[in-house]
Amino acid sequence: MYEKIQHLLRELENLTAKNLQEAEELRIKWIGKKGCITALFDEFKTIAADRKRDLGQPLNALKNAAQEKLLSLRTALTQEAAPVADDYTQPGEPHPFGARHPISTVRAEIIEIFARTGYTLAEGPEIEDDWHVFSALNFPPEHPARDMQDTFFVRQGNNPVLLRTHTSSVQVRVMESQPPPIRVICPGRVFRNEAVSARAHCIFHQVEGLYIDENVSFADLKQAVLYFAREMFGHATKIRLRPSYFPFTEPSAEVDVSCNICGGKGCAICKHTGWLEIMGCGMVDPNVLATCRIDPEKYTGFAFGMGVERIAMLKWQVRDLRLYFENDVRFLAQFAATV
Ligand code: PHE
Repeated sequence: MYEKIQHLLRELENLTAKNLQEAEELRIKWIGKKGCITALFDEFKTIAADRKRDLGQPLNALKNAAQEKLLSLRTALTQEAAPVADDYTQPGEPHPFGARHPISTVRAEIIEIFARTGYTLAEGPEIEDDWHVFSALNFPPEHPARDMQDTFFVRQGNNPVLLRTHTSSVQVRVMESQPPPIRVICPGRVFRNEAVSARAHCIFHQVEGLYIDENVSFADLKQAVLYFAREMFGHATKIRLRPSYFPFTEPSAEVDVSCNICGGKGCAICKHTGWLEIMGCGMVDPNVLATCRIDPEKYTGFAFGMGVERIAMLKWQVRDLRLYFENDVRFLAQFAATV
């Protein structure tokens, strides 16, 4: 029996397996229930007690060696199949490139255009109080925008807390905290209680601007808007201003740009008018200036506000607003080259 054990030990040393199946077959042959080592243990039970002492130890050593060897055959094969993790000489796995979200790209472009003419950035909270969103901006108490149908309230009552419906709230914060001259641009997320559709969403992004100094006129406003429109949509772009109403500006206007798709001839995008509406604007109402402790006799100013999604839709002719919020990579990947 001793001879047999020695023989098997030698055989064990030269054991190889080409694949996992072979390794498994060897495991069964050696240490399986009907394997040769199990058979030796059965034989061991039958031998005389005085010989057991000399044979037990080598037999156990054989069993351990066999277990170790068969395990190492197995692990060598599984490691071969898996890629070697820390081989730094291998070429790297290519990472797919990400891209900026189209809304971020357009927002950055809008900010950059105004930054060139001296506007600085101002930001404020998305969760606001009634004062900064409505009261300081001359909204009469019965104005429909204050209604629950239009505004998301976090808390109602005497001191309502709400989600801002426009970033004009940031302009109030700036006017309250710094004296003129003021020239700021306020980008941010805004919230309105609207049913989600291709043309409306309950969350969207705005960029609003405010310019206050001595002798700021409506002509300055027109020039600022024209400059922006040409930088954004091309140098041949024309603008037109239509009278409008906002509680915080007087006079107020809506700005249209000549349709950059049909060049003003009329198409489906501009609904055959040749014009596309892009923003609201106006001269800051003297009441608003006074409320924010700015002397309306000395200072005048203008403000404007636009939706980032609207500008992005016109720039890329995307018809459905919801695409900007779904984060479908098939949509987003198309903007990879626009940065
Ligand atoms: N705050 C207005 C809106 O959300 C836009 C606006 C800003 C209009 C500034 C005039 C002046 O619709």
